[in-house]
Amino acid sequence: MSRGIRRVGVVGGGQMGAGIAEVCARAGLDTIVCEVDAEAARAARERVEASLDRAVRHGKLDRAAAQDALARTTFTRSLEDLADRQLVVEAVVENADAKTEVFAALDKIVEDPEAVLATNTSSLPVTRLGMTTRRADRVIGLHFFNPVPVLPLVEVVASLHTSARTVDAVTDFATRSLGKTVIRSQDRAGFVVNALLIPYLLSAIRMTESGFASVADVDAGMERGCAHPMGPLKLADLIGLDTVASIAESLYDEFKEPLYASPPLLQRMVEAGLLGRKTGRGFHVYD
Ligand code: CAA
Repeated sequence: MSRGIRRVGVVGGGQMGAGIAEVCARAGLDTIVCEVDAEAARAARERVEASLDRAVRHGKLDRAAAQDALARTTFTRSLEDLADRQLVVEAVVENADAKTEVFAALDKIVEDPEAVLATNTSSLPVTRLGMTTRRADRVIGLHFFNPVPVLPLVEVVASLHTSARTVDAVTDFATRSLGKTVIRSQDRAGFVVNALLIPYLLSAIRMTESGFASVADVDAGMERGCAHPMGPLKLADLIGLDTVASIAESLYDEFKEPLYASPPLLQRMVEAGLLGRKTGRGFHVYD
């Protein structure tokens, strides 16, 4: 069925949405990215362009293929433009109200009775999003990893209502069309990867908050001692500290375990707008 999915929509053109759109366009699919206004749509386009340029510079893509991918990608401010999509991936901010609103709207707009509505949520219940639509059997979690063009994993998360046909369709899409590796998770906050990753990142934040070790030494410890590509505080900056805090909150709400509780330093940094790479400063400073 995925060979049938040629028209994809992505709602939200931030770092995840832009990355998802890029891999879809690079896979030859007709891709529309929807953002809230013209400024945000322009920023989304710039993200995709910058990442394609990077792929060309690294010798991962030739210039003509990058231009073709960009030509296949349309940026819009209107959700109505997604009416003819066969798959829409929601990748807006990690906030239950924002995501619920998008799903309720998509349910009215997307016309194909076979179309699948997917969420890139890291931690919110897929079941709850499905219940805001009249097609819970065609709502599913499709969770990508940042940077999307580089990391091969996608988590596929079926809700209690998702049909086997929908699971098969998106699994086939992620593996055959996008060339990703799929793992399956039950619909539990954090799924597999974030349920393991977030407590580790929170521990690193607590470690530096308490003065146990410096930011540089915490990161160097895991990079040099465990061969991680980046230390936990650099990784938290890459994910975005607001997103780390939101995922931690969902995990804490679901499991009530202290290991998922956000340390005060993380909360204060989010309140201060020090969100990591995207704002130029988090645990590290970026140009
Ligand atoms: N397209 C294709 N390939 C690209 C690319 C692009 N746009 N940008 C970079 N690459 C490739 C490069 O060519 C390079 O490949 P080779 O090693 O084969 O040459 C590789 O990606 C690394 O690129 P760089 O050398 O430029 O960058 P780096 O060495 O500084 O690595 C990094 C950067 C990829 C981010 C790496 O540090 C890394 O993998 N970090 C860990 C990221 C991680 O754990 N992400 C998961 C976050 S959790 C999440 O996303 C889920 C959630 O819900 C929060």
